[in-house]
Amino acid sequence: MKFYDPILVALDVDNADDAMRLVKMLGGKVGGFKVGLELVNSVGMDILSRISEYGNVFYDAKFHDIPNTVAGAVRASARRGVWMVNIHISGGNAMLDAAQEAAHTVDKPPLLIGVTVLTSIDQAILNNDLRTPGAVVEQVTHYAQMADRSGLNGVVASPQELSAIRAICRPNFLTVIPGIRPKGVAANDQKRIATPGQAILDGANYLVVGRAITNASDPVVAADAIAEEIRETIMHRSGE
Ligand code: C5P
Repeated sequence: MKFYDPILVALDVDNADDAMRLVKMLGGKVGGFKVGLELVNSVGMDILSRISEYGNVFYDAKFHDIPNTVAGAVRASARRGVWMVNIHISGGNAMLDAAQEAAHTVDKPPLLIGVTVLTSIDQAILNNDLRTPGAVVEQVTHYAQMADRSGLNGVVASPQELSAIRAICRPNFLTVIPGIRPKGVAANDQKRIATPGQAILDGANYLVVGRAITNASDPVVAADAIAEEIRETIMHRSGE
């Protein structure tokens, strides 16, 4: 493993020029690139294969539909050669199973990742709007267990939920963690944040990093600093 492997850069831009400028600059210096709905809806799906030439692509599709439809969408994404794709766990077990089967219809299946509870959903929204009783963290861990049992590769979760997920899921179950802020970088709209080192210590496998890299005056320097923080954390931990 290289120390920059956990870093997935969120390409939250609406045009191919900005996306490819970042990808060409950072290719080979980070673990991959997260492509979301803003970018694919702005420039088209071909951007996924263009970016794949420079690094791993995490297609942040967040599919949520009936099992047959989600299976078809996952299969189509797999054929495009994406390295990681995600679906909403709230679609239920049958949907998870169908997606999992669909991912494995290609020679090199993508990592299939479940979205637990969106971090924009707080206690009041969960209980009142969605009429789901209990605490957010209980819902998150329940969803993580569903994903684990269905054979998904892992989940997206906030830094705050990382330890609870680690405690109940199999050891090689992957955690993909946004809300990463190196020390001294503005939190912006993120509320539940962690430094790269803290997230790695808590068991994160992948860190989704957007503005801390893409808004930096030199994105390569910013990415290198995060990789260095990961290196120090891992070396320190293994030296204990
Ligand atoms: O710029 P920043 O590092 O905050 O970007 C984080 C990325 O992770 C964005 O693409 C955002 O949509 C995504 N994300 C998040 N929180 C979640 C799930 C995804 O910030 N719970």
